Amino acid sequence: MPATVIIGGQWGDEGKGRVVDFFARSCSVIARYSAGSNAGHTIVNELGKFGLHLVPAGIFHPETTCVVGNGVVVNPQALIEELEMLSSRGVDTSRVRVSDRAHVVMPWHLAIDDLDEKMRGEHAIGTTGTGTGPAFTDKTGRLGVRMIDLVQPESLEALLSFVLPYKNRVITELYGGEPLDYDQIRDEYREYGRQLRPFVTDTARLLQEAHDRGEQILLEGAQGTLLDLDNGTYPYVTSSVPSSMSGGACLGVGLGPTAVSRVVGVYKAYQTRVGDGPFPTELFGEEAAALRDHGIDQGTGEYGTTTGRPRRCGWFDGVLARQTAKLNGVNSIALTRLDVLAQFESVQVCVGYELDGERIDSLPASLQDANSVRPVYEVLPGWQQEVSDVRHFPDLPLEARRFVRRIEELVDAPVDMISVGPEREQAIVTRDIFGVPL
Ligand code: IMP
Repeated sequence: MPATVIIGGQWGDEGKGRVVDFFARSCSVIARYSAGSNAGHTIVNELGKFGLHLVPAGIFHPETTCVVGNGVVVNPQALIEELEMLSSRGVDTSRVRVSDRAHVVMPWHLAIDDLDEKMRGEHAIGTTGTGTGPAFTDKTGRLGVRMIDLVQPESLEALLSFVLPYKNRVITELYGGEPLDYDQIRDEYREYGRQLRPFVTDTARLLQEAHDRGEQILLEGAQGTLLDLDNGTYPYVTSSVPSSMSGGACLGVGLGPTAVSRVVGVYKAYQTRVGDGPFPTELFGEEAAALRDHGIDQGTGEYGTTTGRPRRCGWFDGVLARQTAKLNGVNSIALTRLDVLAQFESVQVCVGYELDGERIDSLPASLQDANSVRPVYEVLPGWQQEVSDVRHFPDLPLEARRFVRRIEELVDAPVDMISVGPEREQAIVTRDIFGVPL
């Protein structure tokens, strides 16, 4: 059975966790393949509302093995807290497996994330402050600590005695910060290693064997394509290696590219972004507030799951959506939060840009140009009707169906699933891609 990759088609927060939670019932293994605890997935199901950062969103299905792949950077404290939180709320975490090759977020990564943002001044990225960027920098800089080192005390100590003095020089001499203490880190991280040892294994092998047995595998992306190091709005991007895009999925779990046949692109019915960087369809004032604060009473407004920061909001950008679909090879769309648009008399969709009086159909690589493009909108009639209880596509108001069809045309892929509310069952499946009953 070929594997499926789920990616974010925008700037993250598209609802990938919710989509994974929905489809997980049909999969035997769900694996996260990139990023770290900078990622945040909000999931609402019969057990309540959960914010996940490292554990794959398939954890709520008792039959599913949940893998944190080699492409993820793991903050051990955050992982332990997440596992404890899940256990205390009745979720079985014994099926979690963490790659022995995944890199570890160390205290100097957290310190440097903060110090570096300050040093950048007005050029700050607006990171999540989770140490994720510096951990990936050290991975490629060959200064990383991996999970296998964390669970082997001798290996941890050997690495600490080399890397910590190096990092303390960077912290004190370059950034003017306070040095970190060897003994404290050794004791703390040894304890994390002891607690996480039962979860750590060769997860690439686990996935390869599941694939050989013909099992359904889902590779869960984090963040969105527009935050990708190579193809996103650089430098206002995240720094995952491998990339959070579908192309990084195989690398991040240890499967070959022939194992994947389906790429589900998750797109929100409008656009959001946290942190700085270009955002052509950004709205301000009342319309932005209407998008941001919809569902705020239920805790599902547009505020970051990881940092709580208000998200910047705007209309659906069809230009960027097509671009990200092509970059990922998207052949199936999950469209989320359609219910949020029900409040508008008319909805707008960006179908092109103008730059210096010329019409263009992609976001330029130049940051200055990307900040200067003016969106060209198509205005579609709104439906102004609650759709949260709709479960079948033909039951959606005509205007909502037209909006969905227009998105399919713009993105050039079919919409196979639509979410109309935060609860697991508030979804419309239009094509049976995982054997989920229609
Ligand atoms: P970092 O990943 O913490 O280094 O932050 C880099 C950029 O990516 C910042 O603009 C963050 O706000 C953004 N970012 C990182 N993770 C997520 C996410 O899960 N959702 C949305 N934005 C994110």
